[in-house]
Amino acid sequence: MTKQDTATWIEKDKRQLHPVYHPKSHANPLVIERGEGVWLHTTDGQKILDGMAGLWNVNAGYGREELAKAAYDQMKDLAFTSNFSGMTNLPSIQLADKLAGFAYEGLNTTFFTSGGSEANDSAFKTARYYWKRKGKPGKYIVIARKGSYHGITLAATFATGLEKYQTMFGPAMDGFVHIHAPNPYRYEGKINAGETIGQAAARELEEAILREGQDTVAAFIAEPVMGVGGVIVPPADYFPLVRAICDKYEVLFIADEVITGFGRTGEWFALKHWNVKPDILAFAKAITSGYAQLGGIQLSDEIRGTMEAAAESEAYMHGYTYSGHAMACAVGLKNLEIMEREEFPKRARELGKRLLDGLKTLIEFPFVGDVRGLGLVCGVEIVSSKETKAADPAMTMKIFKAAQERGLRTRPLGNILAFSPPLSITEDEVDEIIKRLGAAMDGVA
Ligand SMILES: Cc1ncc(COP(=O)(O)O)c(C=O)c1O
Repeated sequence: MTKQDTATWIEKDKRQLHPVYHPKSHANPLVIERGEGVWLHTTDGQKILDGMAGLWNVNAGYGREELAKAAYDQMKDLAFTSNFSGMTNLPSIQLADKLAGFAYEGLNTTFFTSGGSEANDSAFKTARYYWKRKGKPGKYIVIARKGSYHGITLAATFATGLEKYQTMFGPAMDGFVHIHAPNPYRYEGKINAGETIGQAAARELEEAILREGQDTVAAFIAEPVMGVGGVIVPPADYFPLVRAICDKYEVLFIADEVITGFGRTGEWFALKHWNVKPDILAFAKAITSGYAQLGGIQLSDEIRGTMEAAAESEAYMHGYTYSGHAMACAVGLKNLEIMEREEFPKRARELGKRLLDGLKTLIEFPFVGDVRGLGLVCGVEIVSSKETKAADPAMTMKIFKAAQERGLRTRPLGNILAFSPPLSITEDEVDEIIKRLGAAMDGVA
């Protein structure tokens, strides 16, 4: 296709409203035509290394025929059937069976959604349901963290701890309270004498439960590694303390592993790094590597048990048309087979170390304040001064654009550049990310 064709496509593209839309940020989009491994091809002939695996999800990389065939074969036989009362289908049975206990021991029940926002909404409703069944209907509040991202449905929007997603959609929904996350580079909560950041942030959780009242708090939700909030890797003492506090005050722990699930951080699921287990797990994205729309929650056996013993008037009246979508589940199953066969967690550990080590060499630029990561998810924080750590979103955008001109796609998140490439990436391609980013930084320096 020619440049002229691309201009026509961009004009026609105005017929659709894009996610998180502002005309300025969508003035000149890349029109992607094809993908292959970690590479994206645009209609005007550019070849771009996708350092974000789409939106942290195309873990198996682009152009996998096996996944296309799984979708084709399933669609031919049965694309969809209702999964509501009295019906089910084979791929959703097989996938739920495969997932039973896969992420965490004791989480043996899966409820399917079409994505991560629906998964978190389902988690909140399930927490409320659980406490009603336990005779504690006053427990409805969800404690979340500032800086967190949990999605875009109304409830997920107000569970999210980033104000810009809420400003134009208020008034705020009742029932969400936010506390600080343990950000090792810039913790903004109060640290008492002798406390670590992990201890201080966990204490905030305890204080929030006591302030709101134990009898009102249903759940605590956290991304094990915060993604959209800036790739924040927590200190090792944080999540074990969180788990203990949740147990002490009868608060369900919801792990939002929409980004971190399925190998991204070097374990199949990220709380494993700290030997912690949630009560509800939200997943999406990499379950299909983005080849089909699928997400879900997994429930502890304890929560599932409350559903089995419920009266008919207390049925779990929750479900989407596409819960357990046959084609999406078939793709998920095949994708899991690929992830296991190609040892994605191991790849994430090894290649993630290479990526992080490489990115750390860029710390010598005066505007690189911090470089961090876990497995194949990394963040580079851009500041105007290393001493004051003042955030520099304008410089971040400059570097983002300079990188894109050099054929590297990253994602600017305020003053952080995020990296989350396909787990199928090769060593040479990891080196290419570092080389292109370094050249972009040289260009703007
Ligand atoms: C941690 C987290 N939770 C939930 C979501 C929402 O998922 P979806 O966009 O599939 O609704 C996202 C999306 O980026 C996410 O990063």
